[in-house]
Amino acid sequence: MYNEIDLDKIDLSSNPPSEEPARQYYFMAKCREMVRNFKQRHDRFPTACVQTFGCQMNARDSEKMVGILESVGYRMTESEEADFVLYNTCTVRENANNKVYGRLGTLHNYKKKNPHMMIVLCGCMMQEESVVQKLRESYRFVDLIFGTHNIYKFAELIVRAQEADSMLVEIWQETDKIVEDLPVERKYFFKSGVNIMFGCNNFCSYCIVPYVRGRERSREPGEIIREIEKLAADGVVEVMLLGQNVNSYGKNLKEPMSFAELLQKIEQVEGIERIRFMTSHPKDLSDELIEVMRRSSKICKHMHLPLQSGSDRILKIMNRHYDKAHYLRLVEKLRAAVPDISITTDIIVGFPGETEEDFLETLDVVQKVRYDSAFTFLYSKRTGTPAAAMEEQVLESVAKERFDRLLKEVQKIAAKQAETYTGQTLPVLVEQVNTQDGSLVSGRLSNNSIVHFPGNADMVGTFVDVTLEECKGFYYMGRKVDRETTSAH
Ligand code: SAH
Ligand code: SF4
Ligand code: F3S
Repeated sequence: MYNEIDLDKIDLSSNPPSEEPARQYYFMAKCREMVRNFKQRHDRFPTACVQTFGCQMNARDSEKMVGILESVGYRMTESEEADFVLYNTCTVRENANNKVYGRLGTLHNYKKKNPHMMIVLCGCMMQEESVVQKLRESYRFVDLIFGTHNIYKFAELIVRAQEADSMLVEIWQETDKIVEDLPVERKYFFKSGVNIMFGCNNFCSYCIVPYVRGRERSREPGEIIREIEKLAADGVVEVMLLGQNVNSYGKNLKEPMSFAELLQKIEQVEGIERIRFMTSHPKDLSDELIEVMRRSSKICKHMHLPLQSGSDRILKIMNRHYDKAHYLRLVEKLRAAVPDISITTDIIVGFPGETEEDFLETLDVVQKVRYDSAFTFLYSKRTGTPAAAMEEQVLESVAKERFDRLLKEVQKIAAKQAETYTGQTLPVLVEQVNTQDGSLVSGRLSNNSIVHFPGNADMVGTFVDVTLEECKGFYYMGRKVDRETTSAH
């Protein structure tokens, strides 16, 4: 088992092995040697801070990088005044990029005080040529830049950057490689994300993800199950299966397998009580999956089903491959199969050419579906995507006005939806002691809603039956009931 490899036993006088992951373990041993030298010189271990922007894929990638940093001896800290600071970036919307540039200025000041400081940038934003060019020109103090395809080489890149005397940039355009068995440090001991696929082949016309994350690649089911079994043995009770379009899982495997089939295998893993997944693309959501959800006692009663727009005309230009009627039919089938299922979504407002009529179609879907929650986004032009070149970009003031109207409607409906659960007693997986009030703990229902109730730290990671006493719009205040929990639903 690679996780049990003793880094101190690796012979650093020989050349690094060429096969993976053995090569990365060799470089981790080298990093550990560097960390020990630091300790000798400074009489303390070096500190490291990892900041994650963007989606759950990035969050999972960060856990992998933290796993490597911890295994070589860095002490993790929340403070950016650290010896090693890494930003794992997102570029899905313009404001995600701006945040990074804004914060780099502060990091530069820290580095002036601590010249040994290492500043590292990785993730989706780094896959854009214009970004790297800008960093090379105006942010020379950054030590290491790499992208989404060579994250598994993290240890090797740190060693090379330490040895280099100027900024090291290594960006790959694509990869077909999936390296298994590197260390991971989970943020929570009782739940974990699990990548089931990487990349995206859908090329929705507004979206940068396929360009920065590369082509769709599914992990072998055996590897996924092995990872989940290990997680379960380690105390994990909830897994979140991650992919940009989980419904097309397995299509490119040597022995193709559907997502529904994979779910059935995962259900059999003992110790796993809750299974979540994201994201589902409506064009590939199969009846087979709905049936598996209907029969399952472990798959959570939650479906995140991005709508993007309710207008058939816009959906076509977005390259989404479904229409309003198809979407509404899916929702109907889901609700028939899984009563009480929570349905959430993503919506973009102000896509090029969107008219008031198109927008009203979106509002109509919102009113018909009655989402339990919805992420609403103002369209953001991403250079290199087909939509960026479309002529009729919507005026910002018009888009903003529609956005406000949509948000109001979404919030009104979500609050009413949540209210319907008040009074029910349901199992909550407790996630943490409440950060604002230490006498409360906070957790989630199967449908992903947040519940706060009086409790203590011992409850973290366990299922507790809670009566939902009061609905506060986006969350509930509850009270523990005294009986044994029998199911995670
Ligand atoms: N793979 C997922 C979405 C990943 S990106 C899916 O297909 O559903 C998360 C969300 O960001 C998208 O659902 C979309 O609503 C939003 N988004 C993506 N590109 C955007 C853009 N250019 N402007 C505004 N929002 C965007
Ligand atoms: Fe982007 Fe579409 Fe792929 Fe989602 S499915 S990541 S929105 S291209
Ligand atoms: Fe952002 Fe990359 Fe995720 S662009 S949304 S971090 S896949």
